[in-house]
Order: sequence, then structure tokens, then C-alpha cells
Amino acid sequence: MKLVIVNGGPRLRGWNTAAMLEAAANGARAEGAEVETIYLYTLDFKGCRSCFACQRVGAAARCAARDALQPVLDRILEADALLVGSPIYFGDVTGETRAFFERLWFPGLAYDKARTVKYGKRIPVGLVFTMNVPSDAQYAPLFNQISGTMERFFGPTEIVTATDTLQFDDYSRYVSDMFDAEAKRRRHETEFPKDLARAEALGRRLAAGI
Ligand SMILES: Cc1cc2nc3c(=O)[nH]c(=O)nc-3n(C[C@H](O)[C@H](O)[C@H](O)COP(=O)(O)O)c2cc1C
Repeated sequence: MKLVIVNGGPRLRGWNTAAMLEAAANGARAEGAEVETIYLYTLDFKGCRSCFACQRVGAAARCAARDALQPVLDRILEADALLVGSPIYFGDVTGETRAFFERLWFPGLAYDKARTVKYGKRIPVGLVFTMNVPSDAQYAPLFNQISGTMERFFGPTEIVTATDTLQFDDYSRYVSDMFDAEAKRRRHETEFPKDLARAEALGRRLAAGI
């Protein structure tokens, strides 16, 4: 089985979102999955341009925009599972992740009375969100909107979050006295490994098709 992971954060290695997705990739590989990770910030692409080519009568459920995201979208539609990760920026996913969602979702939608979903295949989806706030409760409406849309277009969707994340290596070098640097460090050492374990378990479940 093939799992496509999309990293929608700008810090490609070592930091929170990348580490969570790496843990999920390891979990999926341990279950025998083939894993491909896409880094949105390395791709030259834009969000939906409203060309409506995908909504023309008889059109395939594919995005017609020819840029670096198009082959990625094709590979996702051929995959057996999808995992998307993003840090939370100003109460939402990153701009790149949102642009990716527009391109991923719109070709699957039909403006017919039945609101037909044009993607035939059902695959499980994982979502990983990392954030500074100590509780993810305030972002429930956002997460419900994204997981509801993923369920509609693809299949059963599970969310794993990491809260109260470490934002810099050395808090003394940044204006950051709104944070308790020592508490942040402690949490990173004691709680973040548990977040990674939950991400790994998510990767295993996606590989198992749940
Ligand atoms: C531009 C920007 C905006 C952010 N906005 C929020 C926010 O609205 N809520 C929040 O909880 N964290 C916010 N954060 C913190 C990040 O979401 C958090 O540190 C995340 O884990 C970073 O992921 P990374 O380590 O993979 O880059 C923001 C960070 C940046 C750089």
C-alpha cells in the first residue's frame, strides 16, 4: 500500500510538524507501507485559479492547472492513504496548506443537485496539526471543517495534534517573555515524545487502511 504524506509547514526537518510526520511515516513503514513525503514549501504552485476546467461537462475529476502541484495531486488520487500536516498560523493552517486543499478538493466536487463527489475511490486520511497554544479546543471548528471535507471527498479522517510546542531552540535569543521557556523545554522533553507516539500509531493505522 502507498501512503502519501504532505508536509504543509516551512520547517522541513527537525521541528514539530516534520517530526510528527516522520514518526507517522516510520509507523506506516513498520506496517509495510511505501511512503512518499511531499514538502509543499519546496514546490512552485498556487491555489485554485477558478478556471472551472474541472467543472466542464464531461471533464475528468482532475485539476487542469499545470504547475508543480499537479503531479502531486495525481499521485494522491492514486494512493491508498493520505496524511497532511500543518502548523497552525493565526488560527488556521498555513497559506500553502490552504492553497493545496483548494486544489485537492475542488476537482472532486460537482455542482449538480446531488452534490456528487467525483472521486470514486475511498481512502483513509490523517491530519496532523501542531500549535503553540496549550489546548487544541479553540481550533475544533477549523479541524471539524477540514476533517469533514476530507471525509466527504476521500474517507474516514483522523486528527492528531501536538500542542504547546517548542518554537525556538533558545528562548533567551528571542523576545519571548510571554512564554515560560523552562516549562516549554520541559514539556518538549516529557510530552512531545507522547505526541510523536500518537503520530506513529496514526501512521500504522493509515497503513492498515483504518
Ligand atoms: C506565523 C506564525 C503564526 C502562528 N500562529 C499560531 C496560532 O495562531 N496559534 C498557535 O497555537 N500557534 C501559532 N504559531 C506557532 C506554531 O503553530 C507552532 O509553534 C508550530 O508547532 C510550529 O510548527 P513547526 O515547528 O513545524 O514549524 C504560529 C507560528 C508562526 C511562525
